[in-house]
Amino acid sequence: GDVAVLVPAAGAGVRLGPGRPKALRLLAGEPLLVHAVRRIAFVPSVRTVVVAAPADEVDAVRELLAPVAPVQVVPGGAERQASVAAALAAVPAGPEIVLVHDAARALTPPMLIDSVAAAVRAGAAAVVPVLPIADTVKEVTGDDVVLRTVDRSRLRAVQTPQGFRRSVLAAAHAAAADPLTDDAGLVEQLGEPVTCVPGSEHAFKITRPFDLSLAEHLLAEARR
Ligand code: C5P
Repeated sequence: GDVAVLVPAAGAGVRLGPGRPKALRLLAGEPLLVHAVRRIAFVPSVRTVVVAAPADEVDAVRELLAPVAPVQVVPGGAERQASVAAALAAVPAGPEIVLVHDAARALTPPMLIDSVAAAVRAGAAAVVPVLPIADTVKEVTGDDVVLRTVDRSRLRAVQTPQGFRRSVLAAAHAAAADPLTDDAGLVEQLGEPVTCVPGSEHAFKITRPFDLSLAEHLLAEARR
């Protein structure tokens, strides 16, 4: 195995409504994080998994994941980027490919994780899985008046796992100024090329209650 996977799982999940930290919310009776880690561990080239957990849940998350896969658990930070940096710092020497994968994308197929790692192995410095945008997209003013319609043919929605040559991700985090919502954004700021591979509809991010319902439905269908 030449791949380490970092799993930021320290977010509160405010948009999902009140309750446990998002990665620990239940989906079909199991925390989102368990669903995500099980799929990561299914990929043969994955040697190391580091989870960034909410600081006060580190022991609980360790116990939760022990029966699922061998993982390291570290305390996350106030922002996603800090959680990823904490997980990256815990990766032992060895893996030269590092993937960053949101716990919230709990149903991401192992095949997608594998294809992102394969693209880095084939020589890309940074890789993001993307999907075309289905809706018409408009740019608006601060008070929601339409400024213009954006040409969506050149736009992509970006998912995780995002994959990196290890040295590239380390340099990107070391140089990071303002927190961004994804790691490839930091690599773009370095001027390194970021390559796209086809994403998967199953890798959608569970953000709002509707997403959780959709995930429940998909799992129930898969089990039928
Ligand atoms: O909130 P959002 O859906 O953008 O979070 C994406 C991922 O980043 C989630 O898996 C969440 O747990 C993680 N995260 C984190 N540390 C934070 C905030 C978010 O690990 N401080």
